[in-house]
Amino acid sequence: MTSPRQQRPNYVSRKASLFTESVIREMTREAMKYGAVNLSQGFPDFAAPDDIKRVAMQAIADDINQYAITWGARDFRQAIASKTLWYLGLEVDPETELTVTCGSTEGMIAAMMACVDPGEEVILFEPFYENYAPDAILSDARPRYVSLRAPDWTFDREELRAAFNERTKAIIVCNPNNPTGKVFTRDELEFIAALCREYDALCFTDEIYEHIIYPRDAVEDTDATAAPQHISMAQLEGMRERTVVVNSMSKTYSVTGWRVGYVLAPPEITNAIRKVHDFLTVGAAAPLQAAGAYALSLPPEYYAKLQSEYLARRDLLLPVLEEAGFRTFRPDGAYYIMTDISAFGFPSDVEFTRHLIRDIGVACVPGSSFYSHPELGAQQVRFCFCKKDSTLIAAAERLKKLGMRAEG
Ligand SMILES: Cc1ncc(COP(=O)(O)O)c(C=O)c1O
Repeated sequence: MTSPRQQRPNYVSRKASLFTESVIREMTREAMKYGAVNLSQGFPDFAAPDDIKRVAMQAIADDINQYAITWGARDFRQAIASKTLWYLGLEVDPETELTVTCGSTEGMIAAMMACVDPGEEVILFEPFYENYAPDAILSDARPRYVSLRAPDWTFDREELRAAFNERTKAIIVCNPNNPTGKVFTRDELEFIAALCREYDALCFTDEIYEHIIYPRDAVEDTDATAAPQHISMAQLEGMRERTVVVNSMSKTYSVTGWRVGYVLAPPEITNAIRKVHDFLTVGAAAPLQAAGAYALSLPPEYYAKLQSEYLARRDLLLPVLEEAGFRTFRPDGAYYIMTDISAFGFPSDVEFTRHLIRDIGVACVPGSSFYSHPELGAQQVRFCFCKKDSTLIAAAERLKKLGMRAEG
């Protein structure tokens, strides 16, 4: 006798079978396997600041080794509130409006699970950061996609308006944007905000690159007001009460492995997020939250230096990619460069990436992993530049081989 289960094993849930492993993280494993210079996954290969590390080590020595308060250590939440007031001009109550999470990754999924009911729609701009599609599936949301179009990754306002309807629960905005490097303008954000207000929708905004924004060169920017500037959706009128800001220590303090993030939301939403967060993870690492309290109290000069160092890295990699034959889309923020690979004549981004990793020795991420319809990204790949100069220079050396192949 065979049981129904033996005939057709179904140990894996429908939800889990609806998405694949992360392509970004897979590219890192491929890079390790083939010894490629890894410009795929967005993590720094340089050291985190010494003083932040020292505070973390001291916290362990001081026995901050047990669970912190589930929604975050009080000192850390206080530091987040003070920094948010300084940087965004927003008053935040650390007792009722903040939840500390295991990275912004957990922050986003906890917020979506706390707010979205089955069948409600969530609007996503595409290309999108890879996690949002599985986030939508895991939270039972129905994703609706609206295109960001190269070269400047703007959206069609009519297309966005048409995506909103009475089933819309929320829109996800990633600003500054991964993978495109787009920094949304005030005018664009106001347009999105007006639709959120009109349809009583929430905005989940992922702002983990809030400090990584590049000034424009004087020659290309005749209109000073066009210089990219970080504006949080929560700063716009009528949006604070309907915005969930997801943020993290990962990128700003170069500690992606610490897994410490936070979510800023109005009290009622925070309450729900805290419950989901509690049963997903209990809490983020206690000693690292102590270091977070220190990091978020650093002076403005820290952020100015971070920005100028990333600007130098961007300006190192851009010409390298262009000389190698890529068409690049110059980022205004974050630390990625999206490129067009049509000039190389490969049938797909996946085949091109395989060639780049195995034969040339440089890893990138295939563009299709950022789209709901893979064909839209079939001639794009993304490089990251959060790497030491020596790493970027090693990649440049290897990419010279690609140039020769493209010509020949
Ligand atoms: C837009 C965006 N959100 C979230 C994350 C993940 O951040 P965390 O380390 O805080 O979970 C990344 C990492 O690359 C990202 O690019």
